[in-house]
Amino acid sequence: MNTTPTVHPVDPAFAADARITREQYQRLYAGSLEQPEAFWGRIGERLDWMTPPTVIKDTSFDLHDFRIRWYADGELNAAANCLDRHLAERGDKTAIIFEPDSPDAPAQHISYRELHARTCQAANALRALGVRKGDRVTIYLPMIPEAVVSMLACARIGAVHSVVFGGFAASSIADRVADCGSKLIITADEGRRGGRGVPLKANVDAALKLPGTNSVETVLVVRHSGAAVDMQMPRDRWFDAVVDSQPVECEPERMNAEDPLFILYTSGSTGKPKGVLHTTAGYLVYCAYTHEAVFDLREDDVYWCTADIGWVTGHSYIVYGPLANGATALVFEGVPTWPDSARFWQVIDKHAVTIFYTAPTAIRALMREGDEPVKSTSRGSLRLLGSVGEPINPEAWRWYFEVVGGSRCPVVDTWWQTETGGIMISPLPGAMDLKPGSATRPFFGVQPALVDPAGRVLEGEAEGNLVITDSWPGQMRTVYGDHQRFIDTYFRTYPGNYFSGDGCRRDADGDYWITGRVDDVINVSGHRIGTAEVESALVSHPKVAEAAVVGFPHDVKGQGIYAYVTLVAGEASSDGLRDELVRHVRAQIGPIATPDHLQWAPGLPKTRSGKIMRRILRKIAENATDQLGDTSTLADPSVVESLVRDRRVP
Ligand code: WTA
Repeated sequence: MNTTPTVHPVDPAFAADARITREQYQRLYAGSLEQPEAFWGRIGERLDWMTPPTVIKDTSFDLHDFRIRWYADGELNAAANCLDRHLAERGDKTAIIFEPDSPDAPAQHISYRELHARTCQAANALRALGVRKGDRVTIYLPMIPEAVVSMLACARIGAVHSVVFGGFAASSIADRVADCGSKLIITADEGRRGGRGVPLKANVDAALKLPGTNSVETVLVVRHSGAAVDMQMPRDRWFDAVVDSQPVECEPERMNAEDPLFILYTSGSTGKPKGVLHTTAGYLVYCAYTHEAVFDLREDDVYWCTADIGWVTGHSYIVYGPLANGATALVFEGVPTWPDSARFWQVIDKHAVTIFYTAPTAIRALMREGDEPVKSTSRGSLRLLGSVGEPINPEAWRWYFEVVGGSRCPVVDTWWQTETGGIMISPLPGAMDLKPGSATRPFFGVQPALVDPAGRVLEGEAEGNLVITDSWPGQMRTVYGDHQRFIDTYFRTYPGNYFSGDGCRRDADGDYWITGRVDDVINVSGHRIGTAEVESALVSHPKVAEAAVVGFPHDVKGQGIYAYVTLVAGEASSDGLRDELVRHVRAQIGPIATPDHLQWAPGLPKTRSGKIMRRILRKIAENATDQLGDTSTLADPSVVESLVRDRRVP
């Protein structure tokens, strides 16, 4: 890119009052790299410890001496840090504002004291049902207060939660339950989204009929929509019936800093989703501190992150970061476009939201509706905007800044991953000039580097693969049940470094611009989907012989899903079969994996050794058929011509 980006200098009024100014960032950043022990030791003091740590950083990315341990001899409880320690001074402060799907249903304000009591009751209920420290609990809930309560209840008793996004279908739930051997599932009768019901309990029932799921002893069902559901006694219990009668005090479990806090499944370039495991202290320190610094948090802020708790953004920046900081966080059950496309802005006005954190895909979708729905609202309470999940294109950034934020609110474009636990590269709003489309600078303690495919470090202005050269506290510790996969996935490509899977450019000022995934992961509306997962869903259909899936640029979703399918010999292609295969993928994985285009492929472009050349398939899907490159190494170059001819024009 040769175009000079627009620079929005730090707003002096904002900087005057900011938690971290430019000078402070420079000094603290340098200190965080020179003396990580001293830096993170000091930051760790923000938590309440049962035993304060003496060893702060004990890490090495060297494959012969690999270890990642932070605050390793400390003891603490994450839920106590999110609740108990606020009671003295913030007991009556609102912890959670719940805004239901329907604007006509009443919002709820839940104070820290109430959230503490409800969490203790749920924790006692889990204990009464036999859940012990180290046991796994699957949470498959809509965006309702019980989701937060359930996560914190697990943390309180040392159970490891695995939250499964409510948009996943039965077999995705089953895979995740089976992988970690959950003992208990917390779900609801139904979720509500855009006025429609989501049959959560029915999905759990279907999942538990699938193989590998008989570790589950109990299903707790939150009564939410009131829809009739099938209760199988004694397995299924109503949440309120078990929880409401419990005592409102529950002794928090003493956890070692490196005891697991949660597992969250995420897609990679190969195989089934990985159970990303985060531990207690490093994760909590990191998400609390990033939340405070990046969002320039104030005591009276009303903070709203629109993510779902089924994704890491919900874990770190709806639950653990904000609550560890004693903030007021809004939990929204609904969707941006229902009852109309002004809903986000109406909710901002209704609850006087000051910090708003959302995804580029939502911004682009709302931008298409024009400025009117936004301008029908005031948004006068806003002071800071954030973006996460995928690269934000400069047009969307500008619309967000100018129309949504009225050119008053800095936009923090935050780059991070499920694996990183918290924000890694992002502007600090009082310290950095903003450039639409750039995540700008690394957070304290984060050492990014760009490498070429051979692993050579690129200096200065450059574009390459993004690695992180040393550990930070929020880093994942392992892939649940498969430590080798953790090492192989993240540390073997560029030995001595954590490999993010993202491409990135650094400009002449030293600002970072994430360019997107360089592996076989596609980012659809900010959701990570492995091409391998969609392919295996397709080939699980009896009429499919082979499938190859790639991403292509999509105006609203960022990337869309393009599938090439070869049918088994003798099967005829038809529009009916195409619809059936698309439905099959939705039923296997969930609606987020719905292919946008499905092209019949008499053959796939393969090398003589049988490897599918995805580069070519990507170019065809992108309609860049003039850039197919060298096809002479293909076993049968003629397949390319037929694929180009039959391309489905997106
Ligand atoms: C992408 C979400 C550009 C990136 C927190 C990363 C981004 C993947 C940004 C992680 C951003 C996230 N700019 N790309 N600000 N934030 N990504 O695990 O490709 O769901 O690797 O974590 O999203 O997605 P995940």
